[in-house]
Amino acid sequence: MLLVWTENLTVGVEEFDQEHKKLIAMVNELHGAIEAGDSKETLGIVLDQLENYARHHCLREELLFIKTGYPDAPAHMKEHDELRQMLAGLRERHESGLRARLSVEVMDFIYGWFTNHICCTDKKYSEHMHANGVF
Ligand SMILES: [Fe+2]
Repeated sequence: MLLVWTENLTVGVEEFDQEHKKLIAMVNELHGAIEAGDSKETLGIVLDQLENYARHHCLREELLFIKTGYPDAPAHMKEHDELRQMLAGLRERHESGLRARLSVEVMDFIYGWFTNHICCTDKKYSEHMHANGVF
């Protein structure tokens, strides 16, 4: 099953909606590469791309939290830390050759982190950002 971005996932900040769409596409790409039995090298590249883009995206959100004085920033950034650690862990395990493990953990990652974080944690900043003129 693939993740799909729908209107109910909108966070009301154009840049972040676009980034979330791209992240979801990258998660799906990784999932597809695992399902297709792509080579370790290919999986490694797709995983690296996802990790780099996720880091970029989390940082963009965090910079805006700081700039606008977002009160829920600490809790939100803690969730980002969990994502960064999870992706780094996946990449390390992949590099050390534990391919079977990657599939199971990516599934947890897809259903656990992305659905919960975008729908619920990210959405919480919409009102704050709009009040600060960020759309
Ligand atoms: Fe976030």
